[in-house]
Amino acid sequence: MDSILVRGGRALTGRIPIAGSKNACLTLMPAALLTDEPLTLTNAPRLADVRTMATLLQSLGCEVAHLQDGRVLVVGAETIASHRADYDIVRRMRASVLVLGPLLAREGRAIVSLPGGCAIGARPVDLHLQALAALGAELDLRDGYVHAAAPRGLVGARFAFPIVSVGATENLMMTATLARGTTVIENAACEPEIVDLARCLRRMGAAIEGEGTGTIVVEGVERLHGATHPVIADRIELGTYMLAPAIAGGEVELVGGERGLVAAFADKLEATGIEIAETPGGLRVARPGDGIRPVDVVTEPFPGFPTDLQAQMMALLTLAEGTSRLEERIFENRFMHAPELMRMGARIDVHGGTATVTGVDALRGAPVMATDLRASVSLILAGLAAEGETRVARVYHLDRGYERVEEKLSACGAAIERVAESKSETG
Ligand code: EPZ
Repeated sequence: MDSILVRGGRALTGRIPIAGSKNACLTLMPAALLTDEPLTLTNAPRLADVRTMATLLQSLGCEVAHLQDGRVLVVGAETIASHRADYDIVRRMRASVLVLGPLLAREGRAIVSLPGGCAIGARPVDLHLQALAALGAELDLRDGYVHAAAPRGLVGARFAFPIVSVGATENLMMTATLARGTTVIENAACEPEIVDLARCLRRMGAAIEGEGTGTIVVEGVERLHGATHPVIADRIELGTYMLAPAIAGGEVELVGGERGLVAAFADKLEATGIEIAETPGGLRVARPGDGIRPVDVVTEPFPGFPTDLQAQMMALLTLAEGTSRLEERIFENRFMHAPELMRMGARIDVHGGTATVTGVDALRGAPVMATDLRASVSLILAGLAAEGETRVARVYHLDRGYERVEEKLSACGAAIERVAESKSETG
C-alpha cells in the first residue's frame, strides 16, 4: 500500500489540468450495454474506478479498449455473455449497480450483487429498485443479489423519487430509453453528470428532455446505436484543486475548469477571501495575503454545495480566523477526515451531521490515514499548509478518483511524493 508524503509551507504557482469526470464516466460506460454498437468516450479519466468498471463490463462479455494512454475508452457490447455482476467486483465499487438497468433493458434480465455499505454510509439501492419496478421490472432479492427480470418487456411510467438520488436517476434514465412509451422522472437529480449522460444517450438515439431540471421525460425507442461522446470535466477534481492555492497560498490556473460546474462551492470559497477569476483556459485561483474568513457550509444536491467537496473545504476552514459550521445532509457518516485532521492540530467538534470547526493558526504535519476517497485528498490539502511532514497512508482510496495527484501538485511547487510502503509500516 502506497503512502503520500507532503512537506508543507510552500505556496503554489502554475497550472493544473482538470481531467474528465469520474462520476460521469462511471455511468457513461454502462450505457454502452444499451446497444450492440461501440460507444467511444473521449476525455476519459485514468482512474482505478474506471478500470474496475471496465473489468465489470468485460465480465459481462463487453470489449473495453483503452486507447491514447487511457484517455479514450471504446466499450463494445455486441454480445452479452453473462447477466451476472459478481459481488467480488460490486463490493469494490458501488457504481457497479449502474449496470442493472441497462442490462435489464437490453436483455430482459440481470443478476447484480447488492453493493453492501461503504465508509461514508449504508448507501442502499432501494430507490434504484423502486424505479425499475415502476417500469415493470420483477425484482427478487436473494443470497445478496438482485435478480431482475422483465419477461414482458419494460413499459414507460411516471416515477417520483422520494429523495434525490444521482445513481438511481441515472439507472432509471438509461433503462427508460428502451422501455415502451413515455417515462416521466420527477424529483430527478440535476447534477452535471446527469446532463452529460442525457447528452450521450441522445447521441446514441435516445429521446430525452429536461435533464438538469427536476423533471426528465424519456420517450422509449426501439434501439440505440453507437456514438462518440466527450466526458464532461470533473467538477469535484476542479473544486479540490481550487482549494490547493487557497490553503497553501499562491496562484494556480485550473485548465478546463468552468465556474458553472462548481458555482455554489466557488461562491463559498470567495466568501472565505479567496480570489477566483475566469481565464481563456479555465479558472485562476489565488490567495491574497490576508487570512481565511470562516464560513458555514450545508451540503445539498446540485446546484447546492456538493457533498464530495465537504471534506476538502473542511481542511481549509481548519485555518480560518474564526468558527465555521459544516452540515452534511447527504450521507450519514462523512466526517471521518475530522479525527485525522485533529491529529494535525485542527479543532473540530462533530455532533451528528454537523461539524463545528474552530480555526487554528497552524496545522502540524503528522502520520494520518485515508478512510475514503474525498477524506484522503482533504488530508493532502491539509498537508500542503501544515508545518513539517504529513504522511497519508492507504492512498489506494485516493487513486480511485484522482489521477496522479502528486504529479499535478508537485508541478505547481508542492513538496509531495508517493512512497511505496510495506504492510507493516502502514498498520
Ligand atoms: C453519487 O453517488 C456519486 N457517485 C457520489 O460520489 C456522490 O457523493 C453522490 O452521488 C451524491 O452527489 C457516483 O456518481 C459514482 P445518491 P450515489 O444516490 O448515486 C441515499 C465520490 O466521492 N440513497 O445521490 O450513490 C444515499 O444513501 C462519490 O465520487 C438511498 O437511500 O448517491 C445518500 O444518502 C461518493 N437509496 C443519498 O440517497 C438509494 O437507492 C444520495 O445518494 C440510493 C441512494
